Amino acid sequence: MKKLSFLFFIFLFQQALAQYQPHWQSLDQRKTPVWFEDAKFGIFIHWGVFSVPAWATKSNADGFGSGYAEWYWQRLFAPNLKIHPEFVAFHQKNYGNRSYQDFVHDFKAELFNPDDWAKMFEQAGAKYVVLTSKHHEGFTMWPSPQSWNWNAVDVGPHRDLAGDLAKAVKARNLRMGYYYSLYEWFNPTYKTDVDRYVNERMLPQMKDLVTRYQPDILWTDGEWDHPAKTWKSEELLAWLFNDSPVKNSVVVNDRWGNDTKGKHGSFATSEYGHGGTDNNEVNGFARPWEECRGMGESFGYNRNENLDSYRTGEQLVHQLIDIVARGGNLLLNIGPTADGRIPVIMQQRLEEIGGWLNVNGEAIYGSRKWEKAPKYTQDSPVYFTRKGEHLYAIVRKWQEEIIIENAPKPTKVRLLGFKGAVKFSYKNNVLRIEAPAVNPNTIPCRYAWTYAIMP
Ligand code: GLC
Repeated sequence: MKKLSFLFFIFLFQQALAQYQPHWQSLDQRKTPVWFEDAKFGIFIHWGVFSVPAWATKSNADGFGSGYAEWYWQRLFAPNLKIHPEFVAFHQKNYGNRSYQDFVHDFKAELFNPDDWAKMFEQAGAKYVVLTSKHHEGFTMWPSPQSWNWNAVDVGPHRDLAGDLAKAVKARNLRMGYYYSLYEWFNPTYKTDVDRYVNERMLPQMKDLVTRYQPDILWTDGEWDHPAKTWKSEELLAWLFNDSPVKNSVVVNDRWGNDTKGKHGSFATSEYGHGGTDNNEVNGFARPWEECRGMGESFGYNRNENLDSYRTGEQLVHQLIDIVARGGNLLLNIGPTADGRIPVIMQQRLEEIGGWLNVNGEAIYGSRKWEKAPKYTQDSPVYFTRKGEHLYAIVRKWQEEIIIENAPKPTKVRLLGFKGAVKFSYKNNVLRIEAPAVNPNTIPCRYAWTYAIMP
C-alpha cells in the first residue's frame, strides 16, 4: 500500500513537472515556435506507391480532389464517385487485374538522389520540407516495424527514403517535416478495431518517426473519420511537447480529429484555397496558417496533366506573395516519379521561384502582414509585408508612381535588387514613390517588384 501511494506521488510529481497536459486547454497554451512563421515557404512532397500509376482525372473538376493522383487506390473502389468509372477503365486498360499492392515492385526510386533534391529546395528558397511518410494507402517510407512488408525498406525501393531525405535536408539547414495519415483506407485492423489500430500501429509509428528522425514538423491528415479523442491526439501531442527530442522546435498542423481543424495545433491549414483565411485568431491568440497546393491540380505526380495544368512561375510567385501578405505560409507541393526524379517542369518552377526570392526574399522571410494594408482582392496592384519598422510594397504591375496611404514616413526607399536611388515624397500620411527609369523586364526581376520603405 505504502509503495503504491509512493508511486502515485511520483506520478503526480511528474504530472506537475510536465508542462503540457493531454487536453486541448493545456496544449493550446503552447506558442508556435517562431521559426515556422518566419519561414514562409516550404516544399511538400507526395511520394509513395501511388507514384507508380501516377494518374488521375485531369483536373479537380468536382472542385475537390478528383484530380488527386495519390487517391488512385481508393478511386478504384469507390463506385459512388462520378470519377470512379474513369479510374477503373484506365486501370483495366493498362494493368488488367493487377492489384494496387503489386505496384510496389515498380516503386524503385533508383534515381533518387536526396542531396540533389535538398539542393533544389534550398535554391528554390524554401526553408522547410514536408514528405509523406505514410499516405492513406498505409505504405511507410521508412522501415516501420508496425508496417512489416509494406514499407520502403522491406519492399520496393529497399531504402529508407524518409531517413535519407531528412539527412540531406538537414545538412542544408532546412527544417525537415513529415506528413502522416492517421487513417488508412484498407487496413483491416483500422476498419474493424480502431482502438487497437491507434494503440498498436498509429501511435507507435508516430513516436518512432519522431524519435528516429527528429522532424520539426508533424503534419497529420486523414483525421476526418473520428474525433481527436479516438485518435488519442491529445496524448500524442502531450508527449511530443513534453518528452520528445523535438519538444521545443516542433510544430504541428490542425488535422488531429474531425473536431480540431482551425481550432487546435500550431498552425491552421488550407488546401487549394479551401478555407484559406486572413483571420487566424484561434482560441485567444493568433496562430500562423499555411496554404498547400500543387503546381498543377494534384499532389501525387499525375502523368495525365499537361503544361496547361501547371501554374507558371509568375503565377506561383504571385500566389506566394498573396499568402505572405495575408500572414500565411505557402507549402508548395511537388510529386516525384516512382524512379525518384523531380519532373523537370517542377524543377523549372522551383528554380524560378528561387530566382525571385533571391532578389526579393528580404520582403518575405521573417515578415508579417501589415495591419494597415488595404483589403486585398484578386487583382490588387500592390501587396504589403512588414518587418519591424520596415514596410515592403510588392508591386504586381509595373507602375510609374506608387501611392501608399497610411504609410509611415520613410527616410529612404529602395527597389530591391536595384542599386540606384528611388525618389519619393510624403505628405498627409500619403507616400508617393516614383519608379526609377529601369527596364522592368530585366532589372531587377521580370515581375513582382519590391520597394523597401525604410524608417
Ligand atoms: C488531403 C488529401 C490528400 C493530400 C492532402 C494535403 O486531405 O486526402 O491526398 O495529401 O490532404 O493537404
